[in-house]
Amino acid sequence: NAQKYVIGNWKLNPATLSQACQLASSLVQMDKSVQVGCVPSFVHLSAVGELLAESSILLGAQDVCAKTATTGAFTGDVSAGQLADIGVKFVIIGHSERRAYYGEDNALFEAKIQQAVDAGLTVVFCVGETKSQYQAQQTLVVLDEQLSVLKSVPADKLIVAYEPVWAIGTGLTPSIDEVIGVHRHIKQVLARYAMPTVSVLYGGSVNEKNAAEFATAFGVDGALVGGASLKIEAFSQIVAAFA
Ligand code: G3H
Repeated sequence: NAQKYVIGNWKLNPATLSQACQLASSLVQMDKSVQVGCVPSFVHLSAVGELLAESSILLGAQDVCAKTATTGAFTGDVSAGQLADIGVKFVIIGHSERRAYYGEDNALFEAKIQQAVDAGLTVVFCVGETKSQYQAQQTLVVLDEQLSVLKSVPADKLIVAYEPVWAIGTGLTPSIDEVIGVHRHIKQVLARYAMPTVSVLYGGSVNEKNAAEFATAFGVDGALVGGASLKIEAFSQIVAAFA
């Protein structure tokens, strides 16, 4: 059986270091009967990591340098080795915001995945269809193409997150049956890649009200939470739902 995770992706939030530390401290206090991950922005990583050090919460990063896993002349970048050195355990790659706003593509994802794996980091790889692809019933075709970069990733260093782009930050979600169907398909693809036990998380407008329904959906091994991960009350209810 795949391991369960509830991961909070803070994206470009909060505005200040002290707010990030406050949020991290309340996470440490929270009851965590499922594996929790927390993904602050780069500038907050070290401080948040220190606050989480004695807890079971996994620290994650939102991006990683595609060029090297170590050091070099790559202005503005942060390497997987630097992240691992300060206690980061996983990195998000393939997020739809990176695809949409920064033009990131499969070739770049493959390079980033390689660097992450070289430094011993786990990859949380995001896939998902846009609204027009959903309406054109192209979801599974789109996912197959996105998942193809994972063929040679070590299975014990991989988590997949299914995030329909149109569900991110919109309050809209697919039906539970749709989610179950897509997760089944993703797991079939992963089984073909000889990685049948990789966890597949759902992301996109998960909140404290709908979490229980996702948590009981067959094939949903956890959640990647954006907006609701910034509110400790909501996030702890989501974590409890998946426990
Ligand atoms: O990485 C997280 C997702 O993009 C979901 O964001 O929970 O705000 O819809 P959201």
